[in-house]
Amino acid sequence: MPKERQIQKSITFITGNQHKVLEAQGILNNLGISLEHADIGYPEIQGNLEDVARYGAQYAARRLGKPVIVEDAGLFIKALKWFPGTYSSYVQETIGNKGILKLMSDVVDRYAEFRSVIGFCTPKTEPEVFLGTVKGQIGYEEIGRFGFAYDPLFHPEGYEESFGEMKRDEKNRFSHRRKSLEKFALWYKSQG
Ligand code: IMP
Repeated sequence: MPKERQIQKSITFITGNQHKVLEAQGILNNLGISLEHADIGYPEIQGNLEDVARYGAQYAARRLGKPVIVEDAGLFIKALKWFPGTYSSYVQETIGNKGILKLMSDVVDRYAEFRSVIGFCTPKTEPEVFLGTVKGQIGYEEIGRFGFAYDPLFHPEGYEESFGEMKRDEKNRFSHRRKSLEKFALWYKSQG
């Protein structure tokens, strides 16, 4: 077994999103961390991704009585002044991908980025946050049956396919979530 695949530590991921759990499991197991999952919920305060992740991680760690991670993520579209950003969840549930395409029907600059912030906390410490970003372009239609939410709209830089056309392992190689979780994993493993 390669060294980095040997499980060295474990952590509990607080989320209600099964897609995120599966992606995070693939990423962290490869980095030597096993993942447990708990869907206990936490208040999502007003603020940027870091604020939400910090507050959520601290709240959940104190409530559960053990170290946890939470994630706050979003899609940031330059031509829409970085909308939907921190409103990504609400926008996905209301106007959805079709609504985004409509808002962008006359827009030439299709630049967008996905951002993911992992918040880590233990019951007795202050929270830490880890940011991951992936750059790309918003397509002109939804393409692909893999992934979730905005994935069929988002074409990462250097690829013709959308995230929606990529299987989980491929998306996991360079996604925003991969980058934030990898930063977290390296730090976590260095913490004795
Ligand atoms: P959350 O608040 O971290 O759950 O993320 C906000 C919203 O961004 C989610 O409900 C999804 O709609 C969207 N989102 C987050 N990550 C991804 C992703 O990897 N692919 C597609 N959509 C995502």
